[in-house]
Amino acid sequence: MRSPLLLEIDRQEPAALRADLLRELAARPAVVSSKYFYDALGSSLFAAITRLPEYYPTRTEAAIFVRHVDEIAAQLPAGLTLVDIGAGNCEKAASLLRPFRIGRYVAVDISVDFLGDSLSRLQLQHPELPMLAVGTDFSRRLRLPAAIGDGPRLLFYPGSSIGNFTPAQALDFLRQLRQAAQAGWLLIGVDLLKPAAILEAAYDDPLGVTAAFNRNLLLHLNQLIGSDFTLADWRHVAFFDAAQSRIEMHLEARRSLAVHWPGGERAFAAGERIHTENSYKWRSADFSALLGDAGFSGIRHWSDERGWFALFLAQA
Ligand code: AVJ
Repeated sequence: MRSPLLLEIDRQEPAALRADLLRELAARPAVVSSKYFYDALGSSLFAAITRLPEYYPTRTEAAIFVRHVDEIAAQLPAGLTLVDIGAGNCEKAASLLRPFRIGRYVAVDISVDFLGDSLSRLQLQHPELPMLAVGTDFSRRLRLPAAIGDGPRLLFYPGSSIGNFTPAQALDFLRQLRQAAQAGWLLIGVDLLKPAAILEAAYDDPLGVTAAFNRNLLLHLNQLIGSDFTLADWRHVAFFDAAQSRIEMHLEARRSLAVHWPGGERAFAAGERIHTENSYKWRSADFSALLGDAGFSGIRHWSDERGWFALFLAQA
């Protein structure tokens, strides 16, 4: 049996990471990048979100795969290198390895520890498939190590993570994906525009899991910068902004307070917010056009019968 290779590249220095975060916290309004949701507890809470009745994206995307996997596979040659961007527990890619006749699997994620475990488990089921884990913060810049080899690639970016980017950032990121695909393909999941009530329930569930996911960011910050955020002081806020076609998540101070960390502090008025996430919802025609602007061709997509989510396949 082979064993997965683990690589970490472009790691940000702790001092630079700290400086980035302190700048975000000092801004008005304060903002913290969504990538900080995903410490170990945050990654588990996200996995729980994907099982909530109100959080339709994961299960809708999975149903599109179940229904169309053979048709999608028929568009692709055998032996591609599957590059899984934001692989996490590698569950989505795992079910594609055989139908897509994948020749090599490369899992990319910001958390290399999480990846190592997921990949070792996956290797047991595919003992002869070459596998590589790449730890990197691809949201800053997508770079892939030469160790991947230069066979034709299928870049896989599921789950509508592209929704965290503004349209301008999404265009830039799609261009990076196209470069990285090296004349191969991109398979990407995109959450579509739908009535606000459905969207808002998905991001403010009655069980409070999304609220826990959002508020856990403060625990992660306390770890990262030594701050003294108190969870009881902060409320989860999520709403759909129709003008920008995005869900926004914020943390709102329940009272006027100050947060301290070694070397600094920030005061928050009652009701003042920290912006923690955007999740853009696309019209499929607009996303097709965006893929075209990024230089992709042969764009096809598959959707569910309600038209809630779409999988796009495009040639780099
Ligand atoms: C992982 C970015 C796709 O935007 O739906 C889920 C993250 N935030 N619930 C999304 C998330 C709150 C998720 N993405």
